[in-house]
Amino acid sequence: MMRPHVPDAVTNPDLRPTTPTTEPTTETMTQPASPSRSRPIVLGVTGASGLIYAVRAVKYLLEADEAIELVASRSAAMVWNAENQITMPTEPAKQAEFWRSQAGVPTAGRLRCHPAGDVGANIASGSFRTRGMIVMPCSMSTVGKLANGLSSDLLERAADVQLKEGRSLVVVPRETPFSLVHLRNLTALAEAGARIVPAIPAWYHQPQTIEDLVDFVVARVFDQLDLDCIPLKRWKENEV
Ligand SMILES: Cc1cc2nc3c(=O)[nH]c(=O)nc-3n(C[C@H](O)[C@H](O)[C@H](O)COP(=O)(O)O)c2cc1C
Repeated sequence: MMRPHVPDAVTNPDLRPTTPTTEPTTETMTQPASPSRSRPIVLGVTGASGLIYAVRAVKYLLEADEAIELVASRSAAMVWNAENQITMPTEPAKQAEFWRSQAGVPTAGRLRCHPAGDVGANIASGSFRTRGMIVMPCSMSTVGKLANGLSSDLLERAADVQLKEGRSLVVVPRETPFSLVHLRNLTALAEAGARIVPAIPAWYHQPQTIEDLVDFVVARVFDQLDLDCIPLKRWKENEV
């Protein structure tokens, strides 16, 4: 497959190829063979409440110089409107700028956004290696689809790929109360190997702001992927 033309690669970090070596001929060749540290994290954002969880994840991953492949569901745009009265751009480069601006990280790391309808994107294939996927916040609609193996858009397909490849899939459900249907679907996902990390903050770390509460959840999500990019006050961490 031909690589896209990248005229702004020098100024736009999101358009930089992952390997500045010879021209690759396939999409998989654009990924470094090693180390796995340089493989991207896939971030799926659905139309559940709590987009701030995704924004904080983007912030910390980019600040840690990680690479993110982001796909937002169509409903996520509606929630952006409802929660923040903001219109999320659909065009991938503009959307990447939008997420960077929301996260307050204009240049660090690498962020590539994909349209939800693009089931031919890199992350739709198991041959594109990743370090796993986070779906945050995750709606009950997406939980149901993932639990039943549907791949009706890129977000669902990318999550399905993580499961079939035996990679990490971290699902952050946001709903209350849960119906029996939700609970059964979450159980099915856990049985298939996904980690279920509900958006339930704790108070023992004495949060002072909404961001403190959100960051607690994001840090616990990152723990599932062994990502250590949030300074979290951990329980009895400094006890001798
Ligand atoms: C403002 C707003 C908030 C919503 N919050 C939730 C939520 O917290 N959890 C949930 O499961 N669905 C929520 N929904 C409903 C989902 O957006 C809806 O079920 C949608 O079809 C999910 O599609 P998706 O999973 O492809 O994003 C919300 C919808 C709106 C408009």
